[in-house]
Amino acid sequence: MTLLYEGKAKQLYTTDNAEELRLVYKNDATAFNGGKHDVLHGKGELNNAISTLFFEVLEEEDVQTHFIKKISDTEQLVRPTRIIPLEVVVRNITAGSLARRLGWEEGKALSEPIVEWYYKDDALGDPLVNEDHIAALGVAKVEELEEMRMRALHVNNILVDLCWKANLLLVDFKLEFGLQDDGTLLLADEVSPDTCRFWDSETKEKMDKDLYRYGLGSLQAGYENILSRIGGVVYD
Ligand code: C5P
Repeated sequence: MTLLYEGKAKQLYTTDNAEELRLVYKNDATAFNGGKHDVLHGKGELNNAISTLFFEVLEEEDVQTHFIKKISDTEQLVRPTRIIPLEVVVRNITAGSLARRLGWEEGKALSEPIVEWYYKDDALGDPLVNEDHIAALGVAKVEELEEMRMRALHVNNILVDLCWKANLLLVDFKLEFGLQDDGTLLLADEVSPDTCRFWDSETKEKMDKDLYRYGLGSLQAGYENILSRIGGVVYD
C-alpha cells in the first residue's frame, strides 16, 4: 500500500478501500520542531490506545471525526480528508508558549478558554496567526474558521469533563481539521499526550509530552498513567 504522508510521529497509508486510510503511530518522539528526537519503545501503542479512546468518546458525543476504528496495537483506520494547514490550540490553564509569550506564571486557570491558530509550516516553525493572516494566506474560509472554533470549544468541554472524572487537568491541546471531498469538516490527526497537556488534578504532576520535551521523567510512564486513568472512567 502507498505511503501518502509521513510526519514526525505518524504515517498514513492507502488501503484497498478508497474510503479508508491506515494511520500508523510510530515510536518516534520529537520536540522543538525536530531539534530533539528519540525512539521510545511502546510510545506508538500508548498514543494509539489513548487517541482511540478519546475519538470514541468524541464520536459518541456526535463530534464528526476521521476516526473509523483501531485495527492493531499501533494502527487505526481513518477517513481520508484534505488537512487544513492550521493548528487549533485551546487553553484552559497557562503553560507552554502562552506563559512564555505573555510572561505569565504557569498553572493559572483562565476564566475562559483561549483559542489560538498556528499556521502549519515546519520551515517557519508553525507561527501564531490571527484571522486576518489566515484570510491573507487563503488556507481557510471565514465560515470554516468559525466552525473549527466552535468544534474545538465543544471538544474542550467534552475532554475537560472526561479528564475531571479521571483526576486529570486538561491544560491545553492542539487539534487539526480536514475537509472531505463534499466539504464536510472532520476532526482529524490525533488526540493524545503528544498533542495535549495533562496534569494530575491535585499534585499538578505533568503526564504528557512535556516529560520528554523538558527531560522531566519517563514519557511512557506518564502515558501509561493517563491511559489507565481514562480507561477506568465510566462514561454516561
Ligand atoms: O507549545 P504550546 O504551549 O504552544 O502548545 C500548546 C498545546 O499544543 C500543547 O498541548 C502542545 O502539546 C500542543 N502542540 C502540538 N503540536 C505543536 C505545537 C503544540 O500538539 N506543533
